[in-house]
Amino acid sequence: MTHSSKGAGAKLLHGRILEDTDHFVEAFTASVSFDQRLYRHDIRGSIAHCRMLAHVGVLSAAEAEQIQDGLAQIEGEIDDGAFQWQTGLEDVHMNIEHRLIELIGETGKKLHTARSRNDQVATDLRLYLRDEIDALLALENALASALLDLAERYGEAVMPGYTHLQAAQPISFGHHLLAWFEMLLRDRDRLVDCRRRANQLPLGAAALAGTTFPIDRSFTARELGFEGVAANSLDAVSDRDFAIEFTAAAALTMMHLSRWCEELVLWTSQPFAFVSLPDRFCTGSSIMPQKKNPDVPELVRGKAGRVFGDLAALLTLMKGQPLAYNKDNQEDKEPLFDAVDTLRNCLTAMLGLLPHIEADTGAMARAARQGFATATDFADYLVRRGAPFRDAHEAVGKAVAYAVQQGIELDEIPLAQLKTLVGDRVEADVFDVLTVEGSLAARDHIGGAAPAATAQAIKAGRERIAAADS
Ligand code: ARG
Repeated sequence: MTHSSKGAGAKLLHGRILEDTDHFVEAFTASVSFDQRLYRHDIRGSIAHCRMLAHVGVLSAAEAEQIQDGLAQIEGEIDDGAFQWQTGLEDVHMNIEHRLIELIGETGKKLHTARSRNDQVATDLRLYLRDEIDALLALENALASALLDLAERYGEAVMPGYTHLQAAQPISFGHHLLAWFEMLLRDRDRLVDCRRRANQLPLGAAALAGTTFPIDRSFTARELGFEGVAANSLDAVSDRDFAIEFTAAAALTMMHLSRWCEELVLWTSQPFAFVSLPDRFCTGSSIMPQKKNPDVPELVRGKAGRVFGDLAALLTLMKGQPLAYNKDNQEDKEPLFDAVDTLRNCLTAMLGLLPHIEADTGAMARAARQGFATATDFADYLVRRGAPFRDAHEAVGKAVAYAVQQGIELDEIPLAQLKTLVGDRVEADVFDVLTVEGSLAARDHIGGAAPAATAQAIKAGRERIAAADS
């Protein structure tokens, strides 16, 4: 069943359309329920456009002032929750324009001169994303600092490093945290990069081909703080690659956060018991009284999937579109907003959680002493005494097999026994390299796990954060 509507939208868009819009179609094509989130940026863009029109003489100074006053009043109404959003007015742009005309009359109808909703929405979305990126960057820098603080606290806390999730070589917890720090810094730099490409002004492209009015796009760009003016009108109104690029960067960040969270979930489980999370970030079970579940990391891990989905949605949305603007693009907003919200929430969660995790350095050290984590150091020791690495590798392998059989650690094998296992090159000083502390301290080079190298990396890390802040 279909109905006709005499909605307010008809007043702004009638012209060629003689029939009133079908009720279902009106609701189906409307975006105001979600794009109203862009209202501040829409008003900002309109004010800049209006000032530009006055600057080039298309509007009089008095008209421009009237329009700007009206827009300021509307922003206040929306801020206060007093604004009446109407689905019949389709989207945020027409809701605001309609109200402007209601407030200031005929002059309000002049605002849309030399503009289309196509360049308007592309501008709004870029302004919106720019602000969100700035907020996300602040969160990421704070999180990066928190990681450095934690790495500093645990720079000498020995733990097993893993490959294949099998104990591999001793590292420090601080060194492990610095790996997270590096991931985060690349994530941050991707946002910085994406912001730069998004920061170009679409306004002036109008519907698709530009406008016949003597506009000054550089003026508008300056007003809005854009670094440049989109160089092709068709491209300016149609491509959403900036939104896709952001979402791709967000997806990578979520992938990283998900990996951290996976480790936190593992480390808080009883077989590891390496770290504990603050109670206020955990929940109990409705049936098992003893439970303290790491819900927050689990949820962050789970939310990564949403953002990957947002990215897939945006890529798919764009891939079949001929130039220039198509209504498909209205579907860009919800995935983008979802990616922004999810990333912001997850970064906020990590920022709340991370500084308060407590490491059980005793449990970590005990685990580091199990699993023959210094076997490589033993082989390196034999190499320093003239053995070719492959032979040393094989000899130490025999010693490990012996220790497994005896149920002891490498440094518990008596020297005489060691000599029969790996040959005469081994001397009493081997026990220095078989300790996890010795193993760790020896990896003292840029990027290595030694506490001295970690301290250097933390210092450099602080400078890298500060450099991005300035
Ligand atoms: N609500 C639309 C969107 O989100 C605004 C642009 C509409 N332009 C058009 N020619 N119908 O993309």
